[in-house]
Amino acid sequence: MRVLIVGSGGREHALAWAIAASPLCEDLHAAPGNAGMAGVAQCHDIAATDQAGLIDLCWGQSIDFVVIGPEEPLVLGLADALREAGIRVFGPSAAAARLEGSKAWMKDFCTRHAIPTAAYHCFSDCQAALAFIEGRDVPLVIKTDGLAAGKGVTIATDKAMAREAVIQNMEDQRFGAAGNTIIIEDYLPGEEVSFFALLDGDHALALAAAQDHKRLGEGDSGPNTGGMGAYSPPPCFDQDLQDQVMATIIAPVLNGMRAEGHPYQGVLFAGLMIVDGVPKLLEYNIRFGDPECQVLLARLRSDLLTALLTVEEGGLDHFDLRWSEEAALCVVMAARGYPGMYEKNMPIDGVETAAAAPDVEIFHAATLRDDQGRLRANGGRVLGVTACGPDLSAARTKAYQAVEQIDWPDGIYRRDIGWRALEPDKNKKGDGS
Ligand code: AMP
Ligand code: GLY
Repeated sequence: MRVLIVGSGGREHALAWAIAASPLCEDLHAAPGNAGMAGVAQCHDIAATDQAGLIDLCWGQSIDFVVIGPEEPLVLGLADALREAGIRVFGPSAAAARLEGSKAWMKDFCTRHAIPTAAYHCFSDCQAALAFIEGRDVPLVIKTDGLAAGKGVTIATDKAMAREAVIQNMEDQRFGAAGNTIIIEDYLPGEEVSFFALLDGDHALALAAAQDHKRLGEGDSGPNTGGMGAYSPPPCFDQDLQDQVMATIIAPVLNGMRAEGHPYQGVLFAGLMIVDGVPKLLEYNIRFGDPECQVLLARLRSDLLTALLTVEEGGLDHFDLRWSEEAALCVVMAARGYPGMYEKNMPIDGVETAAAAPDVEIFHAATLRDDQGRLRANGGRVLGVTACGPDLSAARTKAYQAVEQIDWPDGIYRRDIGWRALEPDKNKKGDGS
């Protein structure tokens, strides 16, 4: 089977790594891909949002199956366009992708289907939003309705901050039209967990849970990022919680989307807050998490491609997945300055040596090779150094040993990935972030 992976981040490298190992995969392609993916796939310089270009590529390369990694092409309807062109695809339709593409739509869906989530109000009028804030207690959570590259959420600890977030969205148009509507919701304190399930339109199959570190700084301080590290399984998440999540947060999407005429096919990522032992939904994402995907796939022992094909064909009710008993942990290395301004093109050495250690995989998130074949940074989050071990502590030790072998003076990384699981009392900020 000839497979195309759409995207160029660490998540897509992890997908490529797992799919390349499948006995069903004869030939693997990526668009646009990155220098790491080029080790297992033929990369094509076509943007993930270029629908016509991708369809041409599929025809030109006789692609049998497309796996779409990021949210933006899904929200823009890439899965629909491929299906219309007769190409098999893993990923939800644009109608189903509204679960991530519009937070206001998602919250209304939660109301329609009694999904436990924070109380909320939607606004498309700035003055009404500002007036609402005056009558509420802080903290308040202000969310941009549309896609905002992970920057559309403000946890406002005072009213001035809440007002500023409203004005940035609605008057200053910081996120363009995505901020014309905003959601103001109650703050939920608790332990945050990322949970993943596969849905084939009629059945749901639990994957696994992970925790990521969204903040740039150690002790979970500083600005929000796409994720500076992740680990799986999270010790705070047991089978009872998983059963609750499947029943109260995943099944309502399966049934609700089907009832509304848009069956959900793909991976569903539920961003959860565990509040006093009860899982509440913060957000749905319509894709794998990044870097959660890296640790999930490091633990998966079944064939990923077969699972993704089953999502597309139907039949998840007869499908079972095997997971390693081991733990996995991923340390993200980013360019100095990220998530603000950073330089590109800085050389990185030692990656091959670091990756040669047993139980270590280095997933590239934004790399390219120069004319001499030397690896260079090409974005904010650049590498995801991932290791497995008998427990989280062992996985962490191996991951940081690998990080130390990477020679990249302009790279930054957190030294405390996994602290919530391994030293829960050490850095506690108590802000649930
Ligand atoms: P989202 O993009 O909705 O996941 O929000 C980004 C981050 O903001 C989440 O990962 C949480 O850490 C935090 N967050 C979002 N909504 C809430 C909420 N209602 N209460 C507490 N924290 C939240
Ligand atoms: N790591 C969080 C996300 O992928 O949205």
